[in-house]
Amino acid sequence: MDLLAQLVIGQILRISGYGIALVLTSVVLNVVNQLFFYNKNEPPVVFHWFPIVGSTISYGMDPYRFFFSCRQKHGDIFTFILLGKKTTVYLGTDGNEFILNGKLKDVNAEEVYGKLTTPVFGSDVVYDCPNSKLIEQKKFIKFGLSQEALESYVPLIEEEVNQYIKKSGKFKGKSGTIDLGAVMAEITIFTAGRTLQGDEVRAKLTSEFADLYHDLDLGFSPINFMLPWAPLPHNRKRDLAHARMREIYLDIIHKRRMASTSDQSQAKDMIGNLMRCVYRDGTPIPDKEIAHMMITLLMAGQHSSSAISCWIMHRLASEPEMTEKLYNEQTGALGAGLPPLKHSDLDKLPLLHNVIKETLRIHSSIHTLMRKVKNPMPIPGTSYVVPTTHNLLSSPGVTARDERYFRNAMTWDPHRWETRMEAEDETDTVDYGYGAVSKGTRSPYLPFGAGRHRCIGEKFAYLNLDIIVATLVRNFRFYNPEDREGVPETDYSSLFSRPMPHATVRWERR
Ligand code: HEM
Repeated sequence: MDLLAQLVIGQILRISGYGIALVLTSVVLNVVNQLFFYNKNEPPVVFHWFPIVGSTISYGMDPYRFFFSCRQKHGDIFTFILLGKKTTVYLGTDGNEFILNGKLKDVNAEEVYGKLTTPVFGSDVVYDCPNSKLIEQKKFIKFGLSQEALESYVPLIEEEVNQYIKKSGKFKGKSGTIDLGAVMAEITIFTAGRTLQGDEVRAKLTSEFADLYHDLDLGFSPINFMLPWAPLPHNRKRDLAHARMREIYLDIIHKRRMASTSDQSQAKDMIGNLMRCVYRDGTPIPDKEIAHMMITLLMAGQHSSSAISCWIMHRLASEPEMTEKLYNEQTGALGAGLPPLKHSDLDKLPLLHNVIKETLRIHSSIHTLMRKVKNPMPIPGTSYVVPTTHNLLSSPGVTARDERYFRNAMTWDPHRWETRMEAEDETDTVDYGYGAVSKGTRSPYLPFGAGRHRCIGEKFAYLNLDIIVATLVRNFRFYNPEDREGVPETDYSSLFSRPMPHATVRWERR
């Protein structure tokens, strides 16, 4: 080996030696700090070896397992390090109340979510505006999801599913196997496209729009919590997709405005509704904001609806007798000829409703709700004060999987809802400015969140799932592939939990 090579190797060894020494020192300091210098007035910190990394990996691999194991050691309140940020978790119904019904001056959603969502949704909407403006925007969306609109969606959703069955090529012949995740993602985007998004968007869904949706979705990569502005390929694709999607919506709005006397400008879909809405100060919603709100509805609703519909169908495939019960419920309540579904039919199908409700209990796709602490927050009944350097994390999915509230909590049993009333207390309502909603934070079952940030799409989500599942059950029986028992494992690698990709089910035409 010549002298130069020896020098280079020596240098590398010295640098890596320094690196290792530095890491070791920071590990030792971090451990000493946790063991001897903890603050008794702050919640206990989950033990971790490495600063910054903290408990990010164990949380990210399986958040529920992480929460339950931390709860065993520390109780309902603890802090862990998530990508360098001190994150205080408060589990249980008291924790849901403390975080989700926290006062606006104390807890803030936009400072946690905005970095990630603004490049996807666009400016001046949702988490890129003051909360008072978001509340107005939620009110506008609520107008658009009126009872009349929801009723009108029923035949459209049914038709979309039937068209998909006929035309997609996935259900050719008498039986077959499908990649359920891919199929449910397509069906839910078509039904949302046809109803919420309107005819023009639906017409584009088969081609360009699907690619744009995919690229825009890359903006929700977990890494973007830290590096949303990094010039990485997925962010470049996200930005191009956002710009193009906005252009498409602006063009639709423009064409509708030009045709002001035609039906299009009076359309009952969400774009038509938003074009007629006016902010409290008298300003109509600017076209750019309408476009961004439409992108928000598409992106916010799609993941959760597609994931939960996939879980429902996996559950039905793993318990085929439940599929039969759902089929018999329809023939019993609506007649053996199974006429086209109407909104009023849904009240006659309680088991269908309970199948969806139970699946949302165990498999809700949103396991983590976060807020930034804006003022030191004393936790009632404890000596803890959560400082402003922390984020707060609520996980209503934990109470939903908790034996204290649900016997045999991890058993999927839609019948449990026949005897159990999780009825919302009608007197315990609050109006944040978008109509009275049940406070609901004391309930152990909150798949749509609670408080001022509670989901605005709940009614639509239920309706959409009701009709999709009812229509599939009318046409098919579903079974697990021979090499799988039960449902697939959960994939937590994106921000939303969903069944492992490419899990299949077998179908058989009735
Ligand atoms: C099964 C389907 C769905 C589930 C489980 C779900 C769940 C949730 C949850 C838990 C939140 C609260 C987030 C927080 O507090 O930080 C939320 C917020 C939201 N959801 Fe949904 N959602 C679903 C479908 C939809 C649909 C279909 C739409 C649109 C039509 C929608 C639009 C929104 C919006 C805009 C917010 C933000 C509200 C705010 O921050 O004030 N969601 N959703």
